[in-house]
Amino acid sequence: MRLSAAVFLALSLPTAAAQAVEPNYNYALHCTGCHTAEGVSPPLGRIPPLKGVVGHLVRSEDARLYFANVPGIVNSGLSADETAALLNWVVEVFGEKSTPESWTPFNGAEIKALRKAAPADIMAYRKHVQDELDAQGYSIGAYP
Ligand code: HEC
Repeated sequence: MRLSAAVFLALSLPTAAAQAVEPNYNYALHCTGCHTAEGVSPPLGRIPPLKGVVGHLVRSEDARLYFANVPGIVNSGLSADETAALLNWVVEVFGEKSTPESWTPFNGAEIKALRKAAPADIMAYRKHVQDELDAQGYSIGAYP
């Protein structure tokens, strides 16, 4: 038993190291402190839920522009490629029913372009996106 456990460890360690840049790792490192591991709104603080909501943010160009420029995401310091992978992962894991049946995943080039076009007032822009999605019958809600 001991021997097979050692062999298992030896085989699995390199894999674990290779996963260090995977989106689930980046979420744990850069996002859970505020958004929790479950993507729910924590009882303390004004932090919006991701669970069951965040999928709406891939529905339109303006929503994608907002998503790519959310301050907590920009400030994480991840590269454009890592950001794209993280946002796609967040939508897949937490979007649930909010995620459209068919949608275009982000890539690094789109993140770079959206960052160059960053809205001057991100809070006002979030309200614009909220109104736009509301008009289409999708609710991201007001800030908690
Ligand atoms: C310091 C706390 C903090 C961290 C860290 C953080 N966020 Fe946030 N997040 C917020 C707050 C607060 C908001 C509401 C907008 C604002 O005030 O910036 C928000 C908004 C969002 C939104 C938009 C939700 C909406 O309904 O408008 C998304 C998506 C999001 N965060 C994802 C992430 C991801 C992914 C990470 C990790 C890279 C992250 N956040 C890191 C606090 C944080």
